[in-house]
Amino acid sequence: MTALDACPDTTTHRFPEHFRWGTATAAYQIEGAAAEDGRTPSIWDTFSRTPGKVCNGDTGDIAADHYHRVSEDIALMRQLGVTDYRFSIAWPRIQPTGRGPAVHKGLDFYRRLVDELLESGIRPVATLYHWDLPQELEDAGGWPQRETAYRFGEYAGIMAEALGDRVATWTTLNEPWCAAFLGYGNGVHAPGRTSALAALRAAHHFNLAHGLAARVLRGALPPSAEISLTLNLHTVRAHTDAPEDLDAARRIDAVGNRIFLDPVFRGRLPEDLIHDTAPVTDWSFVEDGDLETASAPIDSLGINYYSPTVVAAGTSEAPSPWAGAEQHVRFLPAPGPRTAMDWPVDADGLHELLIRLRDDLPGVPLVITENGAAYDDYADPSGEVKDPERVAYLRAHLAALHRAIEDGADVRGYFLWSLLDNFEWAYGYSKRFGIVHIDFASQRRTFKDSARWYASVIERGGLSG
Ligand code: FCB
Repeated sequence: MTALDACPDTTTHRFPEHFRWGTATAAYQIEGAAAEDGRTPSIWDTFSRTPGKVCNGDTGDIAADHYHRVSEDIALMRQLGVTDYRFSIAWPRIQPTGRGPAVHKGLDFYRRLVDELLESGIRPVATLYHWDLPQELEDAGGWPQRETAYRFGEYAGIMAEALGDRVATWTTLNEPWCAAFLGYGNGVHAPGRTSALAALRAAHHFNLAHGLAARVLRGALPPSAEISLTLNLHTVRAHTDAPEDLDAARRIDAVGNRIFLDPVFRGRLPEDLIHDTAPVTDWSFVEDGDLETASAPIDSLGINYYSPTVVAAGTSEAPSPWAGAEQHVRFLPAPGPRTAMDWPVDADGLHELLIRLRDDLPGVPLVITENGAAYDDYADPSGEVKDPERVAYLRAHLAALHRAIEDGADVRGYFLWSLLDNFEWAYGYSKRFGIVHIDFASQRRTFKDSARWYASVIERGGLSG
């Protein structure tokens, strides 16, 4: 009998039976072992070594040393009681040059991870691409080149063959918006290029790569496999109902959301996006059949949500990731409290987004593949890590998610970002998203209060009080 069995049931927000409760991570952010077992540099290794790109000059060389601590980290997940674990596979561990045969030691690492998860009763959810493109492929042109999409399809086939008998849920790409527009548009992410054209070309090749990989996975995996894509859809709000502000919101929705949703779910590009981006491109890099490939059927859509975006008519400063939309759009701070990322805390935005998807994509099961918050956590003298703001953030977002499910959104699971404190991209180790605190000097792991809280949510299948 668990402690909860002895208590009166005070659950106020009960989630559906079989709801999937998980945590999420990404390879470059936690693995470390950057030069081990045949792994070669990815664009993030190169970018983080470029002076001025990442806070404090941090790199993912060691990160949370997860490569050497897999068993310890799975034991933490067992204690949390998660049903699922979302991780990503480092492409440069598998194909160091981005092409050709797989490196066995790289495959073995993920086989071991998956086997240990399964032995622990935790379902593995594998993401093929969480931003760590092999540097050689970037040197050959990167995502603005169509060849990269074909290479990604080949890599998907290798992984399906290696893990298809034991991984049931596959995500092709994580947040192609960030990878295209922050990586190639305003350059705050790797590879750090600043070209609106490169960003739009990259976005299209991500759609193509997703479709090619989905097709390969479908052919190689058992019929029961779940194939998915994770998008960081923007909850865009117009500052006022004035037509100019509404038009600013429409532009950002086109270049932030529908640029992926329409190709993937409708096999076409949004007309207004083509019109808005005419000063940058005529989209002649889209070849016959590409959009049909991009719209290969998938089984669910993953959504990463952190905060909403408020816009008005106006202009924004360059360099901007928005491929020209910045000449018509001003970004306003959303009101209310903020996390350590300076991101507004607004759980209603999650509800809003889910209701929109309920209406726009009927019949597509949804999964929250990331949600969470960074705060300035530290271990106090008694070794405890108290993070009441994170608990409040998570509670509010789970309540909003519950409300969306009651309102008819078909959401099957929730993956908390993140299991561990980690390398937070351009912020390096200066931002902590984990529910497990890491002392990076000793690599000691400590449950924050939020971890204990999340374990109790999972155990009771919902929120209480
Ligand atoms: C998302 C990324 C993830 C993490 C969170 C905070 O955009 O997918 O890797 O950095 O933001």
